[in-house]
Amino acid sequence: SDVSIILHPDYRIGTVDRRIFGSFVEHLGRCVYTGIYEPGHATADAHGFRRDVADLTRELGVTVVRYPGGNFVSNYVWEDAVGPVEHRKPFLDLAWRTVEPNTIGTDEFLQYCEREGLEPMMAVNLGTRGVDAAAALVEYCNGQAGTRWADLRIANGREEPYGVTLWCLGNEMDGPWQIGHKDAHTYGRLAADAGKAMKLVDPTIELVACGSSSMYMDTFGEWERTVLSYTYDIVDHISMHAYYEELNGDRASFLGSATAMDRFVERVVASADAVGAQKRSDKRITLSFDEWNVWYLESRFGDATDLPIQRDAPRIIEDRYSGLDAVVVGDLMATLLNHADRIAVGCLAQLVNVIAPIMTEPGGDAWRQTTFHPFATTAHLARGEALQLKVDAPTFATERHGGVPAVTAAATVDPDTGALALFVTNRTDAEQTVTLRHPGARAHLEGGRAVLADHDGARETQKAAEAYGMVDALPITHGDGTITLTLAPESWTAFHGS
Ligand code: AHR
Repeated sequence: SDVSIILHPDYRIGTVDRRIFGSFVEHLGRCVYTGIYEPGHATADAHGFRRDVADLTRELGVTVVRYPGGNFVSNYVWEDAVGPVEHRKPFLDLAWRTVEPNTIGTDEFLQYCEREGLEPMMAVNLGTRGVDAAAALVEYCNGQAGTRWADLRIANGREEPYGVTLWCLGNEMDGPWQIGHKDAHTYGRLAADAGKAMKLVDPTIELVACGSSSMYMDTFGEWERTVLSYTYDIVDHISMHAYYEELNGDRASFLGSATAMDRFVERVVASADAVGAQKRSDKRITLSFDEWNVWYLESRFGDATDLPIQRDAPRIIEDRYSGLDAVVVGDLMATLLNHADRIAVGCLAQLVNVIAPIMTEPGGDAWRQTTFHPFATTAHLARGEALQLKVDAPTFATERHGGVPAVTAAATVDPDTGALALFVTNRTDAEQTVTLRHPGARAHLEGGRAVLADHDGARETQKAAEAYGMVDALPITHGDGTITLTLAPESWTAFHGS
């Protein structure tokens, strides 16, 4: 065969941070209202949250949930969405031009996370607001009794601090579409000041500075360098956002998306480490890949400024996914694993209805999209240490990314149980035979499960999406120090073993 993978359980990249299996809930469209929350729904719990959606979230294996935005956060007044619900006033969110009823706010969301065993990742508004509101929100969430904002939380019925660890210093502040967007110097200074104040309220928190909103921004690289030159000592992570789509029928480039993601990670690491080098700092900034997914942004969505003003949880960005999209999502997840030494947080954007693995109908069903399967499988199987594989595969040419490997792979081993997991993507339209060599180490794989690209119907109806699932991988054979795998055309396969 043309493809070979060498695997040794002792050659490791780093420990997989469970926080890379995160997702994202924004006040956007139907992610919150009729997504996670729908009082009166047949499955609603005592708090009005949909049990069917919470059960699917658990099955998906989500660890962290970023909240409340996204672009939304950049004009959000969090104080208006705490306290008695009957006193809260609707507000006009300018990011999505939607009337936000403020029924769900910080307390409702954080208590939902607690009940469901999810770790919240909060974002503060550095678009229209600043140091004051950011530090006050940290105090509201994490402060002890005896000061103004902590006491407000207690007056609102919550005695115990929530202990929120992860905090984003704004969202996509380089984007011209962002409410209150800033140049790198202005944002860098503000993020450093807000971050300092937030850590003075609670020194145990971890801070994420905004990186570029995409690798394709003109300011990419220079933005990271400038922002980190102000914030290096105060922040822990820098954010990355990336969305991939098939443009103009260019299937090859779309199938190579994870190579673009891989290069994006390497470039942000290089930019961050360059700042560290100049500062002669031993500290390493880690990555918060807090928005990633397939999103038909250019080809189907366009521009939020074209949206009419809407109310009552409008349908916005409700992408439906194909089998091909699922294969790409699997490959993107493997890329996160292959950077386990630097990626601390990852968030599939978003969780429900909005570019999401879970869909709902108001008053009706909740169901899995195609992309649910590779995420759930990876979150379930990838445990412990990410392995440094050596993958040798031919490359093929793409218009957007140049040459990309035909086959990619990632693997993990759990030091406690010895469980091995291997994730392999075949980006070509031909079957591929892969020789997996494990010299000097024992390795046994069970039959794998795969997602296949050839199910475009899954995009069309709920029924077709529900019929889409993982299939048994093609048979594998064990030899002496080798395992031979056969990969279906355009597929993503997960194997587990020991
Ligand atoms: O996830 C949808 C949007 O994409 C988010 O609000 C924004 O941060 C990004 O541009």
